[in-house]
Order: sequence, then C-alpha cells, then structure tokens
Amino acid sequence: MDTKTASKKIDDLTSELLNYNHLYYDLDSPKISDYEYDMKLRELEKLEGEFPQFRREDSPTINVGGVASSSFESVEHTVPMLSLGDVFSYGELDEFCEKILKEYPDTVFSVEPKIDGLSVSLEYVNGKFIRGSTRGNGHTGEDITENLKKIKSIPMYVTNSPDNFELRGEVYMPKDSFELLQKETSGAFKNTRNAAAGSLRQKNPEITLKRKLGIFIFNVQITSDTKLDLHSSQLDYLKKLGFNVIPSYLCKNIDEIVSIIEKIADDKKNIYDFDIDGVVIKVDSLKQRESLGTTAKIPKWAIAYKYPPEEKETVIRDIKLTVGRTGIITPTAIFDTVQVSGTSVSRATLNNQSYINEKNVNIGDTVLVRKAGEIIPEIVRTIKHIEENGVFKIPDRCPICNSKVSFEENGKAAYCTNTFCPSQIEQSIIHFVSKNAMDITGLGNQIVKKLLGNGLIKSSADIYDLSKEQILELENFKEKSADNLIRAIEKSKSKNLNNLIFALGIRNVGFQTAGLLAKKFKTLDNFILADEESIVSIDGIGDVIAKNICNTKKDNHFLDNIEKLKNAGVNTVFIESSASGDGKLNGKTVVITGTFSIGSREKISEMITAAGGKVSSSVSKKTDYLFAGEKAGSKLSKAESLGIKIINEENIKDFLEV
Ligand code: IVH
Repeated sequence: MDTKTASKKIDDLTSELLNYNHLYYDLDSPKISDYEYDMKLRELEKLEGEFPQFRREDSPTINVGGVASSSFESVEHTVPMLSLGDVFSYGELDEFCEKILKEYPDTVFSVEPKIDGLSVSLEYVNGKFIRGSTRGNGHTGEDITENLKKIKSIPMYVTNSPDNFELRGEVYMPKDSFELLQKETSGAFKNTRNAAAGSLRQKNPEITLKRKLGIFIFNVQITSDTKLDLHSSQLDYLKKLGFNVIPSYLCKNIDEIVSIIEKIADDKKNIYDFDIDGVVIKVDSLKQRESLGTTAKIPKWAIAYKYPPEEKETVIRDIKLTVGRTGIITPTAIFDTVQVSGTSVSRATLNNQSYINEKNVNIGDTVLVRKAGEIIPEIVRTIKHIEENGVFKIPDRCPICNSKVSFEENGKAAYCTNTFCPSQIEQSIIHFVSKNAMDITGLGNQIVKKLLGNGLIKSSADIYDLSKEQILELENFKEKSADNLIRAIEKSKSKNLNNLIFALGIRNVGFQTAGLLAKKFKTLDNFILADEESIVSIDGIGDVIAKNICNTKKDNHFLDNIEKLKNAGVNTVFIESSASGDGKLNGKTVVITGTFSIGSREKISEMITAAGGKVSSSVSKKTDYLFAGEKAGSKLSKAESLGIKIINEENIKDFLEV
C-alpha cells in the first residue's frame, strides 16, 4: 500500500471506529457487532504498525472507549480504568501466555468469564460506599453513585475492610430481567449490555432500581491494605466482605486455560444467567503484574479471548416459496427455532436456485445458522444432508397459481409467468402504494389484502374507484380513518411521473431508472410509446432493462391498468423541479459495490436517488462517494486510491438520514 492510501485509510478507519465507540459507549446504541468492531480495530492496529507516522493521537487503538457525558458530574480516575487486548484463536492466546511464561515460568493465570455489561468503579472509605463512576475514556468517567446505590448486590457498608479501597466490576442485566424489560418496553433494547447501560445511566435512580441489575467485581484498583499479593486472594477476601465476585479458575498452562475456556462456553449455554462476550486471562501475581506493566490503553498482564460469532445447528422443516410483484420466486428455509446471538431465529432466505445448489440443502437437512452482521439470519453450511432427497429444486409451476415458471440460465432467478398470479397482484399493489411510489399512507399490507379478498379491487388503478362507504365496510375503519384514506388516495394523484413509473412495478425498474425514464420521456404516453432503441439510448439503462420494459408494455393487463390510471386523473407529466431532489446527495455521484444486508442494490440506488444523488457504475475522479457493502472488490481499492469517501453498510442509513 502506498503512503497516501495508508494515511487516508488510517484516518478513515480511526474516524469510523471513534464513531462506533461513541455509539456504543456514550449513546448505548451500537451499530455493528462486537466482532466486526474488533476486526476493524485489528485492521487499524495492523496499518498503524506498518505506518506509525500516520497514527492519530485520538486513535482507538491507544485510547479507551467513550467520553464522560455532560449530564453527570465527572470523576477523575486515580488509577486509569484500562481496556483489554483481544485474541480470537487459541494460537494467539498461546503466544500471549508463552511470552509471559518465558519470563516467569511459574506464572499462574486467573481465567474468568468476560461479562458483557458496563464497567464501573466503586470507592469505599472507612467501610462506606462513597462514590461510583463509569469508565468514560478511562481517565474521566461519570458520577453514577446514586444509581449504583440501587443495585442490591453492591454493599453500602462493609466491616473489617481496609480504610480506603477502590474496586472495579461489571454491571450487567440478568437474562430474565432483560426478557421482562423487553416485554414491558416492546423490545426497546438490543441486548443485555445495552439495557444495563441504559438503566444505569438514568437521571432518575428509581428507574435503575426497577431494572434489577447485578454486578461482578473483577479487580482491586486501589487498596490501603497491601498484604494480599495475589488477585485470587483479593477476590476471596472481597467475597468474605460480601461482594459478588467474578467466578475465577486458576491455570498454569495453555491446556488448562483452553479447558476452562470450554467449560465457560458450556456454562454460558447451560448455567449463566448473564451474557458474556469472551473469557479474560490474567496474571494472578500482583508483583508480576507490576513488572509486566501496561500500555496507555491495556494491561500487558491480561488478555480477552473472544468467542467466534455464534453459529447454531438446526433442522430445516420446510422451504416456503413466495412470489414477488414481478413474479420472482424466493425460497425461504423454515427451521426449528434456535437462539442465535441473543434472539430466536426460525427462517433464513435461500435466495435462489444457484444459492441452494451451492449450500446443497433440502428439507430435513441439518444446517448451521448464524446472523450475518448479527442482524439477518443466514445458513452458513449444511452439516448433514440427506443424500437420497437430493437438493431442493424450485418447482417449474408457480406455488400460488400453478402457472409455468421461467428460469434464468444462471439459476439466479425464477419467475412465475402469469401476470394475473394473485400473489404478483397483491405484491404489486403493495408496491404501488409504497413511499417512493404513490405514497398512499393508511393503505398498509393488511388492508390491501382485505380489499383484494373482498373483491373491492383487482388492480392498483381500482384504488381510485374506492368510495368512503366501501372503506367503512372494512374492519377497524371509522369515519375519520376512512376520510384520511380517501384524502391520501386523492393526494397521490399528483405524484410526479417518476413516482408513477416506479409504482408500475416493471421488473428491474427501480426508483432511479424510473427517474431516468421520466426525465427522458416527460409524459406517460411518450414512455408507453417509446421503443427499445430510445430506451437503451438513456445513459444508465442497459438492454436487459429496456427489453423488460418493452415486454411489459406489450401486456394487455398492464396497458388496461395504465388506461384506468389515466382515467382516474393520476398525474402523467414529469414535473422537473421536484424530481431533481433536494436531499443530502444533491448533485453528488455515488458508486455502489458489494452486497448489503439492509436491502438489494436496487433499493440502495433508490435511496440514493431519493436523496438527490446520481448512481454511476464505475469509480472515477468524479465519484463523490462509494457505498461499499460486503465483498467489495476492485471498486473499493480504486476509490481508496483516489481518496473517495467510503460509506459502509452500517453508515448508509445514518448518512442518508433515512
Ligand atoms: S479485567 C485492568 N475482567 O471487559 C482490568 N474485565 O473489554 C482490565 N470485563 O472494560 C479488565 N469482565 O469492563 C476484566 N472478568 C473481567 C471482565 C472484564 C468484563 C470488561 C471490563 C473491560 C472490558 C474490556
């Protein structure tokens, strides 16, 4: 990597990680999984190792997490509240231990679960709890004494203790309290760590009391009594004083450590009523700790072993097929419910035939599932395939209307060929009323289904014939809501031509393409009459899309619907100003690369266009932003070398403010 690229990359990664730190520590609202964060931090560490001249002073590799919030008094930590280095394999852990054992062959390690909560410090003077604080940036934290007083397992007074001492521990929310809280708040929190942090940093300590938090003490930061010279003896002593101390196991070598890591993994599954995100391995002797020392951010005498992202085994019980608005058939695997990374999952998309072939799956097979980016469930691989069943085949008849299915040669898509397929009609009407299309608020999916079920509509244009009386016949509609819906339907008639073309739901015509078509042809009639040649002549529209458009325009059902829309008084003319967008990406050129879990590339193009941007297919000096998803390839390196701002998946929504 050349120095210019390295400098830019270090700068970008630093800013990106600092933003994640802020979201995680200060706002209790993480945007990426811990694993992804750790991997990015490693990448930065590696780059800083190669190009130390570019390391920023605020680099997250040398500074601890968050900032002290201004809503609490700040507390200066006498002994810094350090973070921990990470390892992700037994090999790396062995290296860490070997290095220490080489210098101190008799080292004893304390191995403990790494509690996934919020790090706090507790200060005691003459046996009385006088102050408690958060870690903050490691040097300055927030005074949360009153909130900590509401945690039952923190003793307010202790007898026979040293005159002064400061402890460090992790506040956590037990899993059962979390489940209750989620029920009460309709799932307001992402995980137990989030809930613990949110409950502790409350201005009203009574809320902390209600939230039932626990604490595990894992370190003595300061003590006026220096008799004890082992961490393990300190923990035993604290237990006697009445503190809830971290479970710890003493080990002498890597084999013993690995077997404890495995035991802790088992306990995590079967016993622990709290979440952990790894195991901490620490030198037990305090003297040895002192001579090993610390960096500004982490102790050299301890390390965290992080478990790989959770994967669970399950059995596929069914493969359901759904038919989309353009007829595309999507298979979804339905499997026995499993808990993965804190949530229950029971289905994952199988995308298309080529994906199914690649995974070699069918009903009855045992598979491993995980959450991609901790959000969307996916099948990692098949671990037990029933050979005699073969691989699941998308049938050649539509599962809804039994019409013929057409397959793309590459196996990437299968389509129901019947434009009257009930599922296609239902999905196309749901699409027609959606936000970027005709934006008819109040016409949700269930209402569309009811209208179709009652025979009140058969196509999207029929929406404009609905009367208030007919709407009032539907369950849950009252005078006011029926009036609102009629008003929303009326309002939609003045949507611009690009929204209307998008609303027609032509295969591969996303919001951006619809905008190009509206701009070029200016009226709906011109668009309907346009031939393939004039469509292909539009920069940004290729021959496959042009062919799809022309094929659709030959369909009588489609043309009838267009006539009805015109008769209903829907606007069919392009209004220049509003379609040019007034969003965040006004006048900006964006290139998209890789895959995204938040939606298809088409959907992301639509978001970009809706924000006023233009999507281009290749990276050049004129590109303003590269939206880079998973498996981004050469476009990413080209954009980096040109110094183009990279927006990754996690930041897209924030970036576009959608
Ligand atoms: S020892 C100087 N032990 O993990 C002491 N930390 O990623 C360094 N944590 O901020 C920490 N359980 O809040 C230690 N058994 C344990 C822990 C633990 C959870 C947290 C701690 C720290 C974070 C570092």
